[in-house]
Amino acid sequence: MLADNHGKKLSYMRLAVTDRCNLRCFYCMPEEGLDWLSRAELLTYEEMLRMCRLMVQMGIEKIRITGGEPFVRKDMMQLLSAIAEIDGLKDLSITTNGVLTASYITQLKAIGIKSVNLSLDTLDAGRFFAITRRDEFAAVMHTLEELLKHDFEVKINAVVMEGKNTQDILPMVALTKNLPVSVRFIEEMPFNGESHSYTGVQWDYVRILDEIKSHYPTIKKLVDDAYSTSYNYQIAGYTGTIGLIAAYSRTFCGTCNRIRVTPQGSLKNCLYDDGVLNIKDLMRSGATDQHIKNELLKAFNQRPLNGWEAERLRNKQVGVHESMATIGG
Ligand code: GTP
Ligand code: 5AD
Ligand code: SF4
Repeated sequence: MLADNHGKKLSYMRLAVTDRCNLRCFYCMPEEGLDWLSRAELLTYEEMLRMCRLMVQMGIEKIRITGGEPFVRKDMMQLLSAIAEIDGLKDLSITTNGVLTASYITQLKAIGIKSVNLSLDTLDAGRFFAITRRDEFAAVMHTLEELLKHDFEVKINAVVMEGKNTQDILPMVALTKNLPVSVRFIEEMPFNGESHSYTGVQWDYVRILDEIKSHYPTIKKLVDDAYSTSYNYQIAGYTGTIGLIAAYSRTFCGTCNRIRVTPQGSLKNCLYDDGVLNIKDLMRSGATDQHIKNELLKAFNQRPLNGWEAERLRNKQVGVHESMATIGG
């Protein structure tokens, strides 16, 4: 078992494959986009694959590939197919904004991907445009339909924002009546690429839950698994479930089993750290597999028990300027 310095099992890696995005969600990046990384700054597919293999050899069992939309990177299906074949990997999943995913669905199925997390903040085309600044609502809804048609396990991620999509909370809950989806409402976090100043979360999970309860008093709490990021609920008689991700008002440090790797190959022990190891530089300096594993182990031995998140809450700091697009959620 791969464990950190506190004896916590590390089994889950999130790999963000690109900082580029075909949407411009205002809570993630400014209208003009970010200072995109150059090709040379990105991990190549060979480097990503090598890293994934080493991680699995060390004990990582689950890999989640994240965007934006992972498919904005050319030949993404080839990378996914190669990762899916790594011996010992138990679960490969993706998180996407869904703009391009629909056309890859049968291929995703064929390589054994079972679960896809889809970012969708609203069920209204106009509000979708206001939030994402791109006219891609129909494409994302089409992806959702295709995923369901092909029996993927689907989690919908919706960031709840005052003045933007609070009127979508109840209609999105209603989706769970007949659809086998998990609709997860996320508190807005300060990772917006400096697109606007972050003033703290206005819709925290308690407020979201109150809104849901006022219309669905029969909502039931489900038992959450130990590493769940969401508090999960279900409405009596409904097919799907509802999740509340208290991404800002709670810290996840105590149950965090995740490591994150950014598109430029920076290893993060926590959403809020600046990267604790540069895997790309290590690989490009000619390091052997064993040397890389040793460096990874050293990094995993510096995981904070009450990490940057706890620190942030204590200090009430809100000024994190990175974009979620380069962290991958
Ligand atoms: P699965 O559990 O594999 O389905 O993945 P997931 O996409 O649900 O990812 P996860 O549960 O790790 O994260 C979902 C969202 O929760 C992310 O996009 C973040 O918004 C938030 N989140 C995840 N991990 C953390 C964390 O350590 N701290 C905080 N504050 N938020 C987190
Ligand atoms: N706050 C909360 N969630 C965010 N996401 C992107 N930026 C933010 C933010 N500032 C979400 C996306 C996606 C997930 C990976 O992270 O909507 O669902
Ligand atoms: Fe929106 Fe995700 Fe793209 Fe950011 S990375 S602009 S949250 S789709």
